[in-house]
Amino acid sequence: MEGHPQVPGCKVVLLGDSGVGKTCIISRYLTDTFDENSTTTNGATYCSKSVSFDQLGKNLLFDIWDTAGQEKYKALTKFFYKDAAICILVYDICRRNSFDSIKNYWYPQVRENVGENIVLGIAGNKCDLYEKEEIKEEEVREWANEIGAVFELTSAQSNTGINELFENLGYKFIDPNFKPARIEEKREKSIVINKNDLKKNETKTKKSFC
Ligand code: GTP
Repeated sequence: MEGHPQVPGCKVVLLGDSGVGKTCIISRYLTDTFDENSTTTNGATYCSKSVSFDQLGKNLLFDIWDTAGQEKYKALTKFFYKDAAICILVYDICRRNSFDSIKNYWYPQVRENVGENIVLGIAGNKCDLYEKEEIKEEEVREWANEIGAVFELTSAQSNTGINELFENLGYKFIDPNFKPARIEEKREKSIVINKNDLKKNETKTKKSFC
């Protein structure tokens, strides 16, 4: 990480229905932990991570905002994403309505409230539960291409696709024309969950905004 110039902070906001796994994706990315009893987010929480983008010789400070997916927080959430640089729209591959929701609610909201230069990502989360899949990958990929979004199937549980998603989005944010070398696919075995680790790490990295 040393030696590369630091690009000013880059605000990343995760949006999507309650229970799709936004908090777990962030915990996996920041602390490499997973909580099978993750509780619902109230308002929003915030944490940071500095990441090195070696192929462009730059460091980027991600300011990552986890928002609440519950209906009652929808009006409030707007305040957290209106000045975002990167938005990640998260759905649960086992819940068709969570995909319909990012397509028909969250995406239009972002388009309405955030500038044209926003970098968009789509995370099809819980891909460890692929046998219960309700939305075909091809359908999402087609839509992602249409709207110019980076798409990854992710699993916070088995640690799949999350680093790749943030990495691709970071490169796109620094240089929209840059095509990073293909990241090798990793299909790691599910990691044994240690809830206490997550709680310990969360208190170090998170601040709450309700
Ligand atoms: P809100 O805060 O209410 O908006 O929900 P959220 O989108 O932050 O969901 P959260 O991360 O709290 O996860 C909801 C539930 O899904 C929890 O029981 C998690 O353990 C579970 N979960 C999250 N990601 C995965 C995943 O990749 N695979 C599986 N199998 N379960 C997951």
